[in-house]
Amino acid sequence: MLVNKLAIDGNTPVRTLPMPARCLITEAEKTAVIHVLDEAIASGIAFGYNGKYEQQYEKHFVDFMGGGFADGVNSGTNALFCALGGLQLDALSEVIVPPITDPGGVMPVLFAGCVPVFADSDPRSYNTNAEQIEKVMTERTKAIIVAHIAGEAADMEPIMKLAQKHNLYVIEDCAQAHGAKYKGKFVGSIGHIGAFSTMFGKHHCTGGQGGILYTQYENLHWQCKRFADRGKPFNLDGRNGNIVAGINCNSNDLAAAIGIAQITRLPDVIGKRKQLAQIVDHELAGCDKIRLGWQVPAADNVYWFLRFILETKSIKVDKELFCKAVEAEGIEGVIPTYRFINCEKEWFKQKAVFGKTGFPWNCSDYHGDRNPNFILTNAINVTNSHFNILINESYGEQEAQDIAAALKKVANAYSK
Ligand SMILES: Cc1ncc(COP(=O)(O)O)c(C=O)c1O
Repeated sequence: MLVNKLAIDGNTPVRTLPMPARCLITEAEKTAVIHVLDEAIASGIAFGYNGKYEQQYEKHFVDFMGGGFADGVNSGTNALFCALGGLQLDALSEVIVPPITDPGGVMPVLFAGCVPVFADSDPRSYNTNAEQIEKVMTERTKAIIVAHIAGEAADMEPIMKLAQKHNLYVIEDCAQAHGAKYKGKFVGSIGHIGAFSTMFGKHHCTGGQGGILYTQYENLHWQCKRFADRGKPFNLDGRNGNIVAGINCNSNDLAAAIGIAQITRLPDVIGKRKQLAQIVDHELAGCDKIRLGWQVPAADNVYWFLRFILETKSIKVDKELFCKAVEAEGIEGVIPTYRFINCEKEWFKQKAVFGKTGFPWNCSDYHGDRNPNFILTNAINVTNSHFNILINESYGEQEAQDIAAALKKVANAYSK
């Protein structure tokens, strides 16, 4: 029987070599960091923040995005926090948040004094869409956060139309999608503000942790920058002191030096990930049991990981066993379920935000649902039917072929 040929049953795997390491840090980053340290030693003046390296890095980022304004911060979570802070939303405003995202893509809403309201996903993807957003809009809604999960652009045009109609801000969470495009525009440049993570796992990094805010609106740029640095009066001639409350989310010049070295490689990183996805997609063509998940047709995606849909109706094992069998074929980083549905998590259910107060939901001035119970049916179904394979830009043609071969081998062996 074919099933006995699987590596999970003790047979030869598709791949015996380990998958290639990412090799994110190179001599270029080392040289850049040593240069900053050497300069500090020679001058006796420590490197700091908002200095020449951070300014250069922000300029490189803006050039990559084709113009606009950028501010380096210290995490993707804080990029979102500073975006919300910069928008100066009234307390208890509702902010629509993504169905499936890292907790750092939702939690900042609460610390900005606002209330997160979860929109469901498109039934075919981890991302939300205009239809789902519209369903949860109220007169209290003031902003929408749209995440481009897995490096796949959300369907932005209908979302922007909806936002314009209701006078809402749109923040794009581009933590997983540096360089992805929608209808020819970079994600992060379509909404009012783009928030990027630059921690070490992302397409583009500034070290272990980091983030960057991007906008094409100069006033929003300065508002975010002031919020990110304790309300300093940036770009306000004649004003002194701290003009608005903010926090300290600053990046620093050492991180920026790494960012400069990294950003020159970003187009290559993106190109390699796209190529990998293309090969896998091509190799799976005609396979009715497994394929890449549906993507917005107008998107040019950058694949932080590969998202697959498994037609469980035609397979005789469950998705977890299927994934184990793929991994046994020598494919690393097979993640059976991406259930980052934040409204299901304990912190949300227990309203564990500001001690035992239940704030903001229990606040007498809040007139929305005090005990929200979001059931995101599409998000649940889509996380149940899909699984992910982690990739990196060191993967080449061979790795793409091996991923596709392992998937097809396991799908055929477990075919009903
Ligand atoms: C979609 C999304 N949003 C926000 C974040 C938070 O970014 P950071 O980890 O840099 O704080 C992440 C991190 O993985 C993310 O994937």
